Amino acid sequence: MTAKATTPITVDRIADAVSAAHAGHRQNRRGKNASYIPALATVDPQLFGVCVATVDGQTFSAGDSTSEFALESISKVFTAALAMEQVGPREFRRKVGADPTGAAFNSVLALELHNDKPMSPLVNAGAMTAASLVSAIDAEDRWRQILQIQSDFAGHPISVSEQITASERATNFHNRAIAWLLLCGGYMYCDPMEACDIYTQQCSTLVTTVDLAIMGATLANGGINPITDKRVIAHANVSHVLAEMAMEGLYTGSGDWAYTVGLPAKSGVGGGLVAVSPGKLAIAAYSPPLDEAGNSVRAQAAITQIAHTLGLGLFNTERRD
Ligand code: DON
Repeated sequence: MTAKATTPITVDRIADAVSAAHAGHRQNRRGKNASYIPALATVDPQLFGVCVATVDGQTFSAGDSTSEFALESISKVFTAALAMEQVGPREFRRKVGADPTGAAFNSVLALELHNDKPMSPLVNAGAMTAASLVSAIDAEDRWRQILQIQSDFAGHPISVSEQITASERATNFHNRAIAWLLLCGGYMYCDPMEACDIYTQQCSTLVTTVDLAIMGATLANGGINPITDKRVIAHANVSHVLAEMAMEGLYTGSGDWAYTVGLPAKSGVGGGLVAVSPGKLAIAAYSPPLDEAGNSVRAQAAITQIAHTLGLGLFNTERRD
């Protein structure tokens, strides 16, 4: 029996897949903007951008791919990467974890069930632990490093929205409670309100769908930004970051995502979603309306379609019949 050759991923196929995914899901009106952060509730729900960035630095976009939106929980990936670089992957897994919680992204119950261990850097608790693990002389230094790593992943300076930061700061009481619980449980490594505030700010930075695709492509490219050629994180840490994304990147939707798409990915309540095909490319999409788990409806649909069209799922095997 001979294996059937996989169809090569050409630039034409990528460009067609991006256009088709945008056209195919533009009319989808399901989902609702996040409303618990007032600044997100008023964003135009029609916005919809799609972009693929390859490991050789090419980008293919459709729709509102240059509209800025709040990075939100996708920021957790980059803060996790930074903390992992500084404390090493073993210590990071011991202090934060690499398992799904099976609960909502801001669950207190998940902490209770796991002896106060956050389990994943991609839920709010673990993201605040990760922020607290960044080695810093003060809050300003911690924030500077976190903004710098987001910028290095994107390949240009990333800015923060003061309006979204203010809106989040005015409503982040639940996260403040989680930060104090982490201190009680021994999983908080700086002042808990500093970690919570830094986490709040890191969620409020602005990116475009193109930025997000390049951030993902930096992971796909083994930690080197394909536009700037700068090494952003150690090659050895990339697989750990991608494993975290595979386990918890879409919260309670992570298992279904693995089953149907099979790519490590991360969502944010701003409407962004990025999926990584290691060694090949990243697919990013943005659309504010979310499903029950807090993941963008249209972004999931568009990325799923592109991943299927290009045959990118990590669990795919070649057909032999
Ligand atoms: O902690 C929060 O509530 C937000 N700043 C971010 C949460 C988030 O993006 C969850 N993602 N889907």
